Amino acid sequence: MAYEHFYKYYDLLMNDVNYEDWIQIVNQYFNTDDSLLEVGCGTGTILIQLLEKGFSIDGLDISEEMLTIAKEKISQKKVSSNLFLGDMRELESEKKANYDGVICFLDSINYLETKVDVENTFKGIYHILKPDGIFIFDIHSIHKLLTKMDGYSYNETFNSFTYLWNTFVEVFNDHSILYHELSFFIKKAKNVYVRLDEAHKQTVFNEAFYASILEKYGFKIINILYDFNNSIDKEKCDRILFVSKKCL
Ligand SMILES: C[S@@+](CC[C@H](N)C(=O)[O-])C[C@H]1O[C@@H](n2cnc3c(N)ncnc32)[C@H](O)[C@@H]1O
Repeated sequence: MAYEHFYKYYDLLMNDVNYEDWIQIVNQYFNTDDSLLEVGCGTGTILIQLLEKGFSIDGLDISEEMLTIAKEKISQKKVSSNLFLGDMRELESEKKANYDGVICFLDSINYLETKVDVENTFKGIYHILKPDGIFIFDIHSIHKLLTKMDGYSYNETFNSFTYLWNTFVEVFNDHSILYHELSFFIKKAKNVYVRLDEAHKQTVFNEAFYASILEKYGFKIINILYDFNNSIDKEKCDRILFVSKKCL
């Protein structure tokens, strides 16, 4: 199961992420008096930075382990948030029109494996947003998968563990699949390691598909950002961000 072991090392392995880029996006589209939800909040790094900036934001994640880390991190700060264990595909059963904004960052949407999953997620997010509420999410680009992830292998050694991270890509007509194979070698004693394996699967449909589903369920796309700005060659970007508004 995804994040079964990774949750313990996630923050360490993400230490090269420029979280400030994500915070800037939130600053651009929301005010601190808006009520926000981060779907796929993981270990809460973005959520906590937003809480510290005065935003009111709840978190939802399908991984109990990731939420446990988020809760521990929040308890060490002078901030508070409601964290929910839940599935982004099932938000339609939640209370209607509660949030001014929903964010879903760092390719969490790519964990949705089927077109129906994407439809159910967007439909549910529409349901929990207030009228004119904003939904922002990002996806990996196909360019990134093909040029930076296919057959990629990375390893790093820390005092207490070493990890291997291999990625492979399978390309189909209307989507691509990114497979992550992670192995953690945890040091137990001198020359004694325990190996923990974990696999993740992320699906990338083309940009037009996500756009069409947003529109199908009543969102108006107000911006599409390529690597956080619109000035670069969009065919060569790594990440695509959709900013959309709930229209009635
Ligand atoms: C790449 S992490 C991103 C975490 C966080 N947004 C961050 O910025 O570090 C993806 C997160 O999405 C969550 N996730 C995957 N599928 C989900 C689903 N169906 N419903 C809710 N969360 C999900 C995972 O458990 C994981 O915490």
